[in-house]
Amino acid sequence: MSTIFYHANGWKQLSVTIVEKDYSSVFVLVDQNTKSHCLSHFDQHFSHPYTLLTMDAGEANKHIETCEHLWSSLSEQGADRNSLLLNLGGGVVTDLGGFVACTYKRGIDFINIPTSLLAMVDASVGGKTGVDFQGLKNQIGIIREPAFVVIDDGFLTTLPINEFRSGYAEMLKHGLIADADYFSNLATEQLNVKSTISNNIRHSVEIKHKVISEDPYEKGLRKILNYGHTLGHAIETHSLNHPSAQNLLHGEAIAIGMVMEAELSYRTTNLSIGERNQIKAVFSSIFDSISFDDSDRSAIKALLKHDKKNKSSEVRFVLLKAIGAPVIDCLVSEEDIDAAFRFYAD
Ligand SMILES: NC(=O)c1ccc[n+]([C@@H]2O[C@H](COP(=O)([O-])OP(=O)(O)OC[C@H]3O[C@@H](n4cnc5c(N)ncnc54)[C@H](O)[C@@H]3O)[C@@H](O)[C@H]2O)c1
Ligand SMILES: [Zn+2]
Repeated sequence: MSTIFYHANGWKQLSVTIVEKDYSSVFVLVDQNTKSHCLSHFDQHFSHPYTLLTMDAGEANKHIETCEHLWSSLSEQGADRNSLLLNLGGGVVTDLGGFVACTYKRGIDFINIPTSLLAMVDASVGGKTGVDFQGLKNQIGIIREPAFVVIDDGFLTTLPINEFRSGYAEMLKHGLIADADYFSNLATEQLNVKSTISNNIRHSVEIKHKVISEDPYEKGLRKILNYGHTLGHAIETHSLNHPSAQNLLHGEAIAIGMVMEAELSYRTTNLSIGERNQIKAVFSSIFDSISFDDSDRSAIKALLKHDKKNKSSEVRFVLLKAIGAPVIDCLVSEEDIDAAFRFYAD
């Protein structure tokens, strides 16, 4: 697993690496928002010449046409195998930029500089790259580590609050799958407090790092990072495919998934009723409640069958036997899923 450098140490490492590796050219990928909000902070810390590549912001642009556009730009600007791509942005930029770097001329080096909370604690770490395809999330991609990751939480000052909450959902997930005390602390702390967020980001990254270093290719343990994501991805995809429905961010969708999967855990892996209710209470205190009608529910259930983590046609879940104690590869019935929707709605 690639190394993560924080703050001043990260910027220093970046300068040192660029000199040492003697890259033929350096490209920086941004989206429109990170271009306006993050580039000046980046320029304060990075003095090497670079060529800027820009993509449209948002999940709706995380597709192969954007890659084609970027491959063309790299090619037109003379990028060769010894070029470097810096991905400066949220998870869309780090996932898509990583994929572009891994595939351009069979792979050039890339470094992630996450600017959203979600990308800092999750997307930029662990080597999963890729794009959405035919309306399904992350269908095309590759697992390859960035050369390293630079985390500077100074970028977070311009991040909209809903995006901040979206990342916070992944941090709460880290507590749920690995550290009950961390979950409780996050639940009681004020969201964006500078003094605690730095330490919490590090702790979340440590949890993800530990899981991935034991199982880089998701043969077993790594699946625990998918808690809340089986239903969450289906809910997110549904919202993406129906722009008229409530448009949900990744973390907002998996927050719903985590509440629903707490009910599945109660029914399947004996999560206590107290902890099930605690999980719901914590997420309800941070996220607005979303309503699903009959047609939403059937569409989401149909999407579950496409979940790429399923073996054959069975839908498998990561569930909890207690907060901090996950169980992988759990099977649930359709009746359980209906109950999970009811539990969320109650
Ligand atoms: N590879 C992985 O392991 C992994 C893990 C989790 C999520 N993901 C992926 O990450 C994506 C979600 O990431 P995200 O939530 O960062 O989405 P995102 O990249 O769309 O960023 C969210 C929004 O915030 C803006 N933004 C980012 N940083 C900003 C800043 N500092 N100031 C102002 N605006 C800023 C972006 O332009 C965008 O509009 C999804 O595509 C998801 O599938 C990948
Ligand atoms: Zn996630």
